[in-house]
Amino acid sequence: MGENPTDLQSGRSNSSALKQLATVIALRCVECASLYPGVSEHPRYRCDCGGVLDVDAKIHYPLQQEPALQAGFETLATSESDVKPFAGAHWRQLFEERASHSPTWPVNVVTQLPDSSGVWRYRELILPIPEQYIVSRPEGNTCLYPVGRENCGNHRAGHRQIGHYAGLDYLFLKHEGENPTGSFKDRGMTVGVTMANLLGARAVACASTGNTSASLASYAAQLGLPGIVFLPSTHVAAGKLAQSLAYGATTVQIEGDFDDAMRLVEQVCNELGIYLLNSLNPFRIEGQKAIGFELLQQLAWEAPDWLVLPAGNLGNTSAIGKAFRQAHRLGLIAHVPRIAAVQASGANPFFRSFMNGFVSREYVQAQTIATAIKIGDPVSYSRARQVIEESNGVVEEVSDEEILAAKAVIDRSGIGCEPASAATLAGARKLVERGIIKREERVVGILTGNLLKDSQTGIPQPKQGDAITASIEAVRRALANKISF
Ligand code: F0G
Repeated sequence: MGENPTDLQSGRSNSSALKQLATVIALRCVECASLYPGVSEHPRYRCDCGGVLDVDAKIHYPLQQEPALQAGFETLATSESDVKPFAGAHWRQLFEERASHSPTWPVNVVTQLPDSSGVWRYRELILPIPEQYIVSRPEGNTCLYPVGRENCGNHRAGHRQIGHYAGLDYLFLKHEGENPTGSFKDRGMTVGVTMANLLGARAVACASTGNTSASLASYAAQLGLPGIVFLPSTHVAAGKLAQSLAYGATTVQIEGDFDDAMRLVEQVCNELGIYLLNSLNPFRIEGQKAIGFELLQQLAWEAPDWLVLPAGNLGNTSAIGKAFRQAHRLGLIAHVPRIAAVQASGANPFFRSFMNGFVSREYVQAQTIATAIKIGDPVSYSRARQVIEESNGVVEEVSDEEILAAKAVIDRSGIGCEPASAATLAGARKLVERGIIKREERVVGILTGNLLKDSQTGIPQPKQGDAITASIEAVRRALANKISF
């Protein structure tokens, strides 16, 4: 092992943990339902039919030794009619208990703190592996901001402007830009890199519009594994590129767009035995489910009516939809929220497919100022289509102008986000205007990335000559008409 360049492994794989994992997970093709082993020496990212794969796991409640009882808690990710409301209270209690400990790092003790991660706190529903293999910052634990006209609370006049703009009384924004590398990608990456660790991979790679690469670079650096990222040579926000370079990933800029980079990285990973960490890797999707579990827990397990999010490669739509479906089957929530995926109108293949009733899959040459979602051939199309259909969801499109206007509202509220994230608010507003989301319905919107990722787009830039002399008179003049005393 580790001799042939196409071998994935360096010889450090952890065979007993892998064998154990193989007994509880399988990979299922989203297109034709073919089943494959959940783990193998040569990882599989697609079915023989070309379809993408989904993790199909047996979910076990921990410490339930009695076989008859255990059967009552066991659930297959795919089983349709298997809702277990009675188990819900036990799961809720377990997650509440784990969330209630504040993390401590006893000096001189090598320890893992999975309960303090907003991903691994839900580990039975994410990836059932021994804790010593987990690679975590930790991540998650992001704020859920109440910003609706009615649910905003005191001292949040600025935040309430968001509710006014959307036209919603009960709106929450979950800010995934508060993750360690500034985007939701860390939730999938902690699981992807943990799998790389378990498999003994010798290198990891991804194609990216910037955030996945920043996250991969960071987690690969943490583990001490070479990271390779493929980026479009233009239209990657400077902050994201800087992260990949600073964290020490081999950064390959491709003369082409994300879709070109994606095709190449898949080929390169298969040829050179590098572990692929795009959301084509189904374990990334398992980690991103934690956004759904965490927001439900923050809402005391009262599911909202709607979940609104920006959509590009469609991994996140797929992941959150799967989380809601599983949470419902486990009895954690009483109903599955409707999902609204929002695309930029210049990068709207999923919207076009939705508009034709998903009769045909559409592709576009993508163009938008929201570079994170500038994608014309989304990898997780089939997974996300299932989610929209199952949840009675919708797909919306918004123009770049609408994205920038919504971003200005989020920024001015003091919360702030990167451009792609603002598609959430622009989309919610449009769906309220069209009467699809009702103004009194409870809505959670996802902000996917941090304001600092892209400090150029949609932000007033300081002009040369703006500086004033360091005198009180000059300061008085500069502030005249700005504040009324
Ligand atoms: N918002 C941000 C900030 C993103 O970075 C992405 C995707 C999305 C939304 C869309 O999520 O792809 O799961 O539908 N960024 C990927 C990347 C493509 O490479 O960082 P999706």
